Amino acid sequence: MKIRAMTQEDKPGLMRLLDNTPEFLPDEVDLAEEVIDDYLEDSAASGFFILVADLEPGIGGYVVYGTVPITNNVWELYWFAVDNNIRGQGIGRKLWEAAENAMWEAGARLLVLETSSKSEYDRTNLFYKRAGYEVVGLIKDFYMIGDDQITYGKRRPQ
Ligand SMILES: CC(C)(COP(=O)(O)OP(=O)(O)OC[C@H]1O[C@@H](n2cnc3c(N)ncnc32)[C@H](O)[C@@H]1OP(=O)(O)O)[C@@H](O)C(=O)NCCC(=O)NCCS
Repeated sequence: MKIRAMTQEDKPGLMRLLDNTPEFLPDEVDLAEEVIDDYLEDSAASGFFILVADLEPGIGGYVVYGTVPITNNVWELYWFAVDNNIRGQGIGRKLWEAAENAMWEAGARLLVLETSSKSEYDRTNLFYKRAGYEVVGLIKDFYMIGDDQITYGKRRPQ
């Protein structure tokens, strides 16, 4: 498996992966596609970076990250998914580490991400905690009643 920057050729496989991600609602997949299209059109202008896990052949997962505008070196992990059939095999961890390393190298001082408190995201929340992220914010009933938004953060290692 190779972790590398996403290209136009990856889009159909990545869209299939997103359509088959049970946690993502159709509106969320639409939004994810807009981000992918912005990135493919002009990565620099979009502010997004996308890495894919290339299973050679096939796409096993992806991660989207970028700077948070108007902040001083705060970066955000915007989207993250691994093919539902091959989770729990370390692909997410490899993608995540590659994205983190790229952000630290680019001068990040704080990494943040937002996720949901729904039970479908229990393993996702566990993943972030195990990756060294702390809960730095919580907005109750943000996405809908009973679905809080949890913000995680990790500071640059000294
Ligand atoms: C979160 C996600 C990307 C992790 O990918 P992954 O390839 O399964 O992650 P890994 O195999 O590297 O697993 C790392 C840890 O996460 C945990 N984990 C998270 N989701 C898991 C899943 N669905 N199945 C098995 N383990 C999972 C495991 O406990 C594992 O810990 P361990 O190896 O120390 O026991 C994946 O579960 C996913 O696509 N989830 C749905 C989409 C999502 O939540 N995206 C983030 C939105 S904010």
